[in-house]
Amino acid sequence: MSIPSLFDLTGRSVLVTGAASGLGLAYAETMLEAGARTLMTDMDAQALDTEVQRLKSRYPLVEGATLDVADATAVDALVDGMTARHGAIDCVFANAGISAGRGFIVEAGQLENIDLAHWDKVLRINLDGVLHTVRAAARHMKPRREGRIVVTTSIAGLRSESLSGYAYVTSKAAANNLVRQAAMELAPHNVLVNAIAPGPFATNINGGRLRLPESAERMRTHIPLGRVAQADEIKGLALLLASPASSYMTGTIIPVDGGASAR
Ligand SMILES: NC(=O)c1ccc[n+]([C@@H]2O[C@H](COP(=O)([O-])OP(=O)(O)OC[C@H]3O[C@@H](n4cnc5c(N)ncnc54)[C@H](O)[C@@H]3O)[C@@H](O)[C@H]2O)c1
Repeated sequence: MSIPSLFDLTGRSVLVTGAASGLGLAYAETMLEAGARTLMTDMDAQALDTEVQRLKSRYPLVEGATLDVADATAVDALVDGMTARHGAIDCVFANAGISAGRGFIVEAGQLENIDLAHWDKVLRINLDGVLHTVRAAARHMKPRREGRIVVTTSIAGLRSESLSGYAYVTSKAAANNLVRQAAMELAPHNVLVNAIAPGPFATNINGGRLRLPESAERMRTHIPLGRVAQADEIKGLALLLASPASSYMTGTIIPVDGGASAR
C-alpha cells in the first residue's frame, strides 16, 4: 500500500461525538480532510450548527446531528440511522466529555467535599457516554468484521492527578480499561479499539481555563514540553488510528501530553 493510501479515508463513514468544539472538532476536520463522510454530533445544537455550516463549503460530506451521549437510546438510534443511510460505519470517535472539576490540591476538591450530583453527572457523560457509543458502534462493526473505535480518555486516567477532580480521573481511568476490555472482545472480529489520552489542550473544557495565561504559566512547570497544546496537535494521531496505517494496533492507550506521563 502506498504511503498516501495508508492515510486515505475516501469512502469511509465516520462519527464523532462532542464534535462542536476542541478535540472533537479537530477529529472531524481531520476525517473530512482525509476524505471521509463525517457525522458531527454534539449536545450543543447551536455550536454544532455553526461548525457544520463553516465546514460545509469546503467539505460537502459533512453532516451534523444533535446528540447527548448520556442517552443510550438516542445513541443507538443515531448510529442505526447513520448506518442505514451510509451503508456502514467505519470509525467512531467516542470523545464527548466534561469538566475535570477541582483537584485535591484545593480544599473544594478533597474527598469530604465531593459533590455527589457532580460525580454522577461526570460519570454519566464521561463513562456511560463512552460505553453507549462504543456499544452502538460495535453492534454494527462486528458482523462486517471491520471497524475502528477511538475513545478520548486522558492522562488523568493513567495515574493520580492533583489538579483534576475525583469524578473526572475516575471516569477516565475506567474509560481506559473499557477500551482494553472492548479491544480484547472485538479483536477476533477485526474491530480495533484504541484510546487517545491527551494532556492539557487549550479547548473550551472547564470554561476554557487552559486558554488563560496563568494556565500556560502553570503548565511550564508541570509539562516537560513547557506548554499547553493546541487542538490541531491531536490531528496526526486521530488520522493514524482511523486509517489503514494502524491496522495492527488495538487496545493501546496513547498519551499526547508533552511528555507528562513519562515523568
Ligand atoms: N482539553 C484537555 O485538556 C483534555 C485533556 C484530556 C482529555 N480531554 C478529553 O477530550 C474530550 C474533548 O474535550 P475538549 O477538551 O475538546 O472539550 P470541549 O469542551 O472543547 O469540547 C467538548 C464537547 O463535548 C460536548 N459535550 C459535552 N457533554 C456532552 C454530551 N453529554 N453529549 C454530547 N456532547 C457533549 C460539548 O458540548 C463540547 O462541544 C473530553 O472527553 C475530555 O475529557 C481533554
